[in-house]
Amino acid sequence: MENKRIEAVVFDLDGVITDTAHFHYLAWKKMAEELNIFIDEEFNERLKGVSRMDSLELILQEGNRQNDFSLAQKEEMAAKKNAHYCEFLKELTPDDILPGIPELIAAIKEEGLPIGLASVSKNAGTVLKALQLEEAFDYVADAAKISKSKPDPEIFLTACKGLGAEPEFSIGIEDAQAGIEAIKASGMFAVAVGRNLVNADYKVDRTAELQWGKIKAEY
Ligand code: BG6
Ligand code: MG
Repeated sequence: MENKRIEAVVFDLDGVITDTAHFHYLAWKKMAEELNIFIDEEFNERLKGVSRMDSLELILQEGNRQNDFSLAQKEEMAAKKNAHYCEFLKELTPDDILPGIPELIAAIKEEGLPIGLASVSKNAGTVLKALQLEEAFDYVADAAKISKSKPDPEIFLTACKGLGAEPEFSIGIEDAQAGIEAIKASGMFAVAVGRNLVNADYKVDRTAELQWGKIKAEY
């Protein structure tokens, strides 16, 4: 049988291209501690792939303070977290691209396949610029126009559409459980990076193990 065709590859950003997932965690932790809410890395797994305001709601629920604040106060808290996060971003350079990612992008490009980005982060543009990776992506889904966080497939479907690719013939790469669910719900082939992730079609523990030949062999 002939191999199934591949029309596009769509990457998540935070935790796949670079370790900004850790910066998001540190920024939330700092903001939450000011409210006497304490979060750890295990809780943080639930925030990966989740939008800024939805993440705040999960943190407030964790501290049992979900009914204590007005929308304006919540917006202020989210802005504070973002200010902490943007401080970390100032340190970001191309050296922070995770191992194996430049080689993976090069191998995909060598086959002439389009590459997309599906990040719900409103800071995605700033991160790509700091990493000098803007040119690598043929289409970046605009988080500001996305109404539903992962695990909803909206952002992956938007990225496929922007690339002119059918989800059924496209590959998504994610480090978050919510992201894997989003890829699967869109009908794409899901590649997971990290431990404790389930339901992916192919899984590696770290980005250094992402090899285009191996992904294609599993596809
Ligand atoms: C996702 C991260 O990529 O972006 C989440 O995994 C983050 O942790 C979300 O909350 C929104 O990011 P931002 O930069 O718009 O606050
Ligand atoms: Mg991620």
